[in-house]
Amino acid sequence: MDELRGQAALVTGAGAGLGRAIAVEMARAGAQVAIVDVDEAAAGETVKLVQESGGTALAYRCDVGVRAEVDRTWDAVAADLGRLDIVVNNAGVSFVGPHIIDTTDEVWHQSIDVMQHGVFYGMRAAARHMLPQRSGSVVTISSIRGFSSNPGRIAYCAAKAAVIMMTRVAAAEWGRFGVRANAIAPGVQRTPMWEEDAARGAVDEPGVIRVCPAGRLGEPAEVGRLAVFLSSADAAYINGSCVTIDGGLTTVPVG
Ligand SMILES: NC(=O)c1ccc[n+]([C@@H]2O[C@H](COP(=O)([O-])OP(=O)(O)OC[C@H]3O[C@@H](n4cnc5c(N)ncnc54)[C@H](O)[C@@H]3O)[C@@H](O)[C@H]2O)c1
Repeated sequence: MDELRGQAALVTGAGAGLGRAIAVEMARAGAQVAIVDVDEAAAGETVKLVQESGGTALAYRCDVGVRAEVDRTWDAVAADLGRLDIVVNNAGVSFVGPHIIDTTDEVWHQSIDVMQHGVFYGMRAAARHMLPQRSGSVVTISSIRGFSSNPGRIAYCAAKAAVIMMTRVAAAEWGRFGVRANAIAPGVQRTPMWEEDAARGAVDEPGVIRVCPAGRLGEPAEVGRLAVFLSSADAAYINGSCVTIDGGLTTVPVG
């Protein structure tokens, strides 16, 4: 349970859902955690959760789609925690709904800003800290929607596919410097993002549960533990991978 003892981890979008669970699991594994979110109050709630379970965390307000904010925040975290060993690019936004013909420029740009540009900024800022120290782990949260299409989500799918390849480029560039990059492709996890989409009828939860071989949605902590593993020494030979965690959902032909 202490595989990340002494390490400093930065998790984006850690004010809710998967990011919060990843932060909690990183802290349980012994890391000090920087809780980065555009929603400062939500980040503060996660800090409380981590502290209540005996861990160490600090909150940072940052919009990952804004380069200057990312650079400033990564520098501040490294200064405050004394090092930066793990970065989890997790922040995301979901606009399920219109098909391509009705997709607005705003939805396209906001999705790409947060989930592709944001990941690029996060990777680059991480590299500037990790390559000189010759160690580090960058984990990026993609989605099964990075390789399994979802009508009504062109921008989301595009960004999630892009970050899988960006992870492979990062792995190829950084491997010889002791820095690894991996992605996680979650299936359907019960988080505020999913609950909001389900509440407005944009997604079909009973349908997913019926089709998914696991017979249930995923739990955020399961993704959190996978992120811990990928960042630990046990995963030293895993670099450039995208690990699917979907209860078998994408193994099932539908229709
Ligand atoms: N929930 C799922 O089923 C699922 C499945 C596959 C992939 N994912 C991915 O996992 C990640 C987390 O999803 P979630 O379900 O926990 O979402 P969520 O909406 O529950 O939480 C997202 C968090 O990110 C923060 N955030 C949003 N935009 C930001 C920005 N520009 N800068 C910083 N923080 C920002 C929000 O404030 C929020 O705290 C996303 O990248 C999402 O695409 C989720």
